Amino acid sequence: MNRDELQSQANALRWYHTIDLGQGVVTRGVDNTPERLPRVQLPEDLSGRSVLDIGAWDGFFSFEAERRGAARVVACDYYSWHGVGWGTGQGKAGFQLARTALNSRVEDLDLDVLNLSPNAVGTFDVVLFLGVLYHLPNPLLALERVASVSKGLLILETVVDMVGIGRPAAAFYPDGELNNDPTNWWGPNHAAVQGMLASVGFTRVEVITPAPSAPYRAARAVYHRLRGKNTLAAGFRQDRAVFHAYKA
Ligand SMILES: C[S@@+](CC[C@H](N)C(=O)[O-])C[C@H]1O[C@@H](n2cnc3c(N)ncnc32)[C@H](O)[C@@H]1O
Repeated sequence: MNRDELQSQANALRWYHTIDLGQGVVTRGVDNTPERLPRVQLPEDLSGRSVLDIGAWDGFFSFEAERRGAARVVACDYYSWHGVGWGTGQGKAGFQLARTALNSRVEDLDLDVLNLSPNAVGTFDVVLFLGVLYHLPNPLLALERVASVSKGLLILETVVDMVGIGRPAAAFYPDGELNNDPTNWWGPNHAAVQGMLASVGFTRVEVITPAPSAPYRAARAVYHRLRGKNTLAAGFRQDRAVFHAYKA
């Protein structure tokens, strides 16, 4: 595909991820994904490893895992590829165009996280579970499924809430309470995520992005409030966090 064809096909789609497709074409994602990449701390070298990206959407992190040498990458999703209210009505055309443009061998798997099992998909050295946990009405059940297909490192990124409470706790979001998005259900705090990961069998859990200090969160809450983004109380309590969890 030449550059002009690629540019016009990319322009015809709506993108969640910002992906460099090569030839100077970058998708116009609503998410500044390259900026998020360092926070996740994906291992630099994934040579020979198998990777499962749960909730992959346009596949930025799947393609990045492949670029870092993974022997096999499976991008798994359902809602943004098919679900009402998620997708852009274009199925997984974004993922597919990116895969073609990048000459990628990333496999795609249409599956709800609750249907993951070793029998259904096997087990993976590295599992990515980024930006999905808070979308699930039954997070502990989902983490059991995620743990069942993880045999090495799980990288989990999520909204956290109730930060600073001092004990494991989670906020519940009926209707559109978080970001006016009815697909958001739970915001656990760091200790709750750590507790859930331990309870589903991860023996070591590292908090990659610890909770910022209370003064920092207060200043940030005021900053966001002035821009009309959140209430002060919610801005003080909420953040996003990354965890690395290991089995044995
Ligand atoms: C906020 S996006 C995150 C996309 C990507 N992982 C990232 O971090 O940029 C949430 C993703 O989770 C997926 N998702 C939501 N519920 C899911 C479920 N029950 N099983 C699998 N994926 C789900 C959505 O389809 C969507 O692609």
